[in-house]
Amino acid sequence: MLHRRAFLQRAAVGAALLGIPLASAEQVFGQEPPPLPPRALLERDPERYWAELRPQWLLAADRINLNCGSVGCTPWPVLRAMIAHILEGETFRDPAYPWFGYEENARLRELRDALAAFVGCRRDELALVRNATEANNIVCNGLDMQPGEEALLTDQEHPGGRCCWEQKAARFGIRLNYVTLPKPPASTEEIVERFERALTPATKIIVFSHITTVTGVVLPVKEICALARRRGVLTHVDGAHAIGQLPLHLHELGCDFYAASPHKWLMAPKGTGFLYIREGHLEKLWVNIASGEWRNYAQKAYRFSNLGTSNLSVMVGLKAALDFFSAIGPEHIYARQHELATRVRDRVRAYPQLHIANASDDRFYGGMVSFEADPGSLQPVFAACAARQIRIAGVTQPDGEADRIRISTHIFTQPGELETFFEALATGLGRA
Ligand SMILES: Cc1ncc(COP(=O)(O)O)c(C=O)c1O
Repeated sequence: MLHRRAFLQRAAVGAALLGIPLASAEQVFGQEPPPLPPRALLERDPERYWAELRPQWLLAADRINLNCGSVGCTPWPVLRAMIAHILEGETFRDPAYPWFGYEENARLRELRDALAAFVGCRRDELALVRNATEANNIVCNGLDMQPGEEALLTDQEHPGGRCCWEQKAARFGIRLNYVTLPKPPASTEEIVERFERALTPATKIIVFSHITTVTGVVLPVKEICALARRRGVLTHVDGAHAIGQLPLHLHELGCDFYAASPHKWLMAPKGTGFLYIREGHLEKLWVNIASGEWRNYAQKAYRFSNLGTSNLSVMVGLKAALDFFSAIGPEHIYARQHELATRVRDRVRAYPQLHIANASDDRFYGGMVSFEADPGSLQPVFAACAARQIRIAGVTQPDGEADRIRISTHIFTQPGELETFFEALATGLGRA
């Protein structure tokens, strides 16, 4: 039990960081978080287990968040670990360099070990960075390419994965080529064939998302990487959405580079990311941010974490997020996210005017379902969601291409919240 003064100090920092009233911060940081519901409850009464888990988050009771794909929702134990570290760091008791961005201290090493075990690779292949955008840029800007050589992307890449390649094309004369992804895919073979057809003798690297931001489709990473390897082409996977949504084993996937944003589905503090660089490629990349260790190859992937003074407290939170995930059980988490997403898919399917863009088969979606409709036709659905304080992702564009909505479901999502969304959908589509 912490001394009252420490409680209050923690609450004050929490209030300042989170922009919440001091009274709420005292409640959150002055008390221990509620315990996790007993594991036996999960077998006995799963709905009750997930309902009892919900108080682990600060999520406002009068809001419904069905867009944790854009940015994740961080639970109490993770927030507390991060805030406790902010306070502890400022005591400067620890003789090791107390921040992130220079040499690796014990906390960073512990985190990299835990992360390597979680994603199925070696610690030396993991650089800690601040998000997937940074990781994507490290690969793109660090790789030597000659004018005329090609990068093959998909038509569904996020700007944080696509724009570094556009800049490289504008600056160095490399060429970009795009695969149009099926919406939804009919089979794994269909997707792989599209990549195969788009390869040319000039293709140096294939760049694609594990789960795309546009439709949430899960791409067959293993098969695409195997194709690339057969053709002597590198692979960079933008996995911003995948960690925390899908089980990952990077060595089994067989990619050369992999970028991630654990602040999305793993629910880590914002500003946490990592880059995987397959062992054999560690010396092929130039660093983007050059500091004292830019050519210290003995540091292996950690060379890319020498970013200058950065926030160690969020990295401590990332370790706490891995612990939180492990305490609940990643396999239970994936199963629940997917089960809830399936409820969304099944409901959406009942409307002939809606077209599911990803979830044609279990393997093509995790915790996200997206659907499209005629331009402008989903505008009333957006309005009905706004009226019910439901946060969703999507676009409505009366003069453009199809309207689109993307729904994300996680373990904090309650079935009653989905019912409210279904009601908004029905109202918006004139079926209420
Ligand atoms: C596929 C993909 N890549 C990159 C990003 C950017 O993520 P971050 O802002 O964490 O760098 C996103 C964000 O949604 C994404 O979906």
